[in-house]
Amino acid sequence: MSSNALPRRRLPSLGALVAAPYTVRALTAIVRNPLEALPPEIYREPMVASRMAGTPRIYLADPVLIHEALVKNADALDKGEEVRRALGPALGKGLLTADGAHWKWQRQSVAHAFRHEKLLALQPAMIAAAKDTGQRWRAQGTTTVDIGHEMMRTTFDIIVETMMTGGAGIDVGRVEQGITDYLKPSGWTFALSILGAPDWIPYPGRRKASAAVAFLRSSLHAIIADRRQGADQRQDLVAMLLAAADPETGRTMTDEEIVDNLMTFITAGHETTALGLAWTFHLLALHPAIETRVLKEIATVTGGQAVAAEHVAKLAFTRQVFSEAMRLYPPAPIITRTAIRDFVLREHSIAAGTIIYVPIHAVHHHTALWDNPEAFDPDRFAPEASTARHRYAYMPFGAGPRVCIGNAFAVMEAVAMLAVLLSAFKVSAASASPPQPIMKVTLRPKQSLVMRVEDRHGSSSCIPRARRLVREE
Ligand code: HEM
Repeated sequence: MSSNALPRRRLPSLGALVAAPYTVRALTAIVRNPLEALPPEIYREPMVASRMAGTPRIYLADPVLIHEALVKNADALDKGEEVRRALGPALGKGLLTADGAHWKWQRQSVAHAFRHEKLLALQPAMIAAAKDTGQRWRAQGTTTVDIGHEMMRTTFDIIVETMMTGGAGIDVGRVEQGITDYLKPSGWTFALSILGAPDWIPYPGRRKASAAVAFLRSSLHAIIADRRQGADQRQDLVAMLLAAADPETGRTMTDEEIVDNLMTFITAGHETTALGLAWTFHLLALHPAIETRVLKEIATVTGGQAVAAEHVAKLAFTRQVFSEAMRLYPPAPIITRTAIRDFVLREHSIAAGTIIYVPIHAVHHHTALWDNPEAFDPDRFAPEASTARHRYAYMPFGAGPRVCIGNAFAVMEAVAMLAVLLSAFKVSAASASPPQPIMKVTLRPKQSLVMRVEDRHGSSSCIPRARRLVREE
């Protein structure tokens, strides 16, 4: 694997960079699938500059430049209009979409919930939710499942259980449908925002998306009203948000602001991990030798017992598999920022108003950063290989002060779910045609990922059978 940043000699001057013309074709590609609208050069070059609808746009794939932009010059950037238009109606000015001081005090208010010792205490809930999914598959006698849907359901149960202490009966099916309906026309919101079209312009799917948001937000308002009234002692994220006070002004959050954050945590906190897991199952089904190594690790670490909290941190290879799946299919494939003041990025002057894209998908598939980038090879994430790589050549969780707050939560959850479900079920491909990734803010399979699940152990305990399978293979 090539180790560090892209060779500096390959960095051309801004003037010499590709000037992709603003075309109707580019906009239709954005509506269809924003990944297809990325300049193809960004999968080979360190940086591409373009201008669309009169606005300068810069795509960064060089880890050194990404570090300079997202970390060193973080205070020169905000989330910008495209993000606000795509996500603002659902997430308001919650942690993901807020900027400046409003972002900072929200982040400080919830940071405590994501400390390592707090997360460790959540592992049993993660394992229990995965076991429930296994029970459901068994009870339904299911042979084929939509693995994306199954993972959404499980990670939803986990986020609601761990952050909202059970969530007081939110309807998971409606929430999942609501999020899908909301994200479906996201290509339109990006395209219209690029064109500078007014907010009220109609587009296909808009009405359904608005109804979905109204339903999701009203469910959360009801929960907050309930919690404000009751003498509830639960110490979860809702309690933290209710108690949060801005250190500068002392003001607390309004119900709208709490809903902004609950919407943020529920959506950002389950959909991304679920997609990462769905892609992982897909890849494992295509690579039985890797699956065998995972099963072997699980059997060794658990000693043939049921997966428990103390096993999760020891499942190093399983974690490598999830990392590699997120390299190939990063659940959040593009990060967007807007420069709020002029700044210098290496030798390039970036003017206020420039839009900066960090196309994580392109960074993770970059021909100068990865050997054989399209190959599924979890050994890239073996400890010795990881040290040879620039830190920002791999960034599924972003970088800098806006890095994903749920990063460690997500990895812990994914490893726990993989261990529980893989040791109990053989998950194999049910369709011969490879799934096509499509960006709807997150990276989804275009068609449902239907997979066959077979109980490895029939009706009795699965673990001894899983161990036997490992030995047989
Ligand atoms: C595999 C799973 C996940 C992936 C790939 C992922 C990815 C990301 C990325 C790339 C960002 C940065 C966006 C940017 O810079 O514009 C982000 C931010 C965020 N994520 Fe995650 N995420 C995951 C899981 C989670 C979980 C489990 C939670 C909560 C429990 C969460 C909550 C958030 C929040 C609140 C932010 C905004 C942070 C801020 O701006 O301060 N994410 N995530």
